[in-house]
Amino acid sequence: MSWFAINLVVHILAACIWIGGQATVAYLLPALHDLPERAHAVGLRFQRLAWSAYGVLILTGIGNMLFLHLGIGDLLHSREGHLLDVKFLLVLISGGAALYHAILQTSATRTPSRALSAVLGSSALAAAVAAALYGVLIAT
Ligand code: HEM
Repeated sequence: MSWFAINLVVHILAACIWIGGQATVAYLLPALHDLPERAHAVGLRFQRLAWSAYGVLILTGIGNMLFLHLGIGDLLHSREGHLLDVKFLLVLISGGAALYHAILQTSATRTPSRALSAVLGSSALAAAVAAALYGVLIAT
């Protein structure tokens, strides 16, 4: 197995955690509705896992670019580069929305607007799914 394949497998596993984790936590947390302290603790624990996965995605994503010999110049001048441009935007939206969502959820007052929080959480997930789709488009 090549180093590129290993890097790609780690990239995909990290994407599973970032996307699958968000979907699973969003589905399960309402079951802790009556235990807000527990829900808060679960959210905090998930943050550590999720941001580690996001960091791994960025590092292995850069690794993918290096293995594919995709440089900064290619971002403007090749099909893969153009797909990567959109992917970067989606990764930023996903991370930004997740970060804002997390800040709202862990704020001292802990009385975030539920609607805003739900929109941010859904946006983080949807943008990550779209980023994965663009990853597959680059690879195929
Ligand atoms: C939310 C963050 C991300 C997700 C969910 C994600 C997901 C994926 C997925 C599912 C693939 C497809 C792999 C395959 O079909 O073999 C992929 C490929 C790829 N990703 Fe990401 N990725 C993310 C972030 C990044 C970042 C930050 C970079 C660059 C710095 C990056 C660069 C790439 C490249 C270059 C490929 C193509 C690899 C190939 O051609 O085999 N990704 N990504």
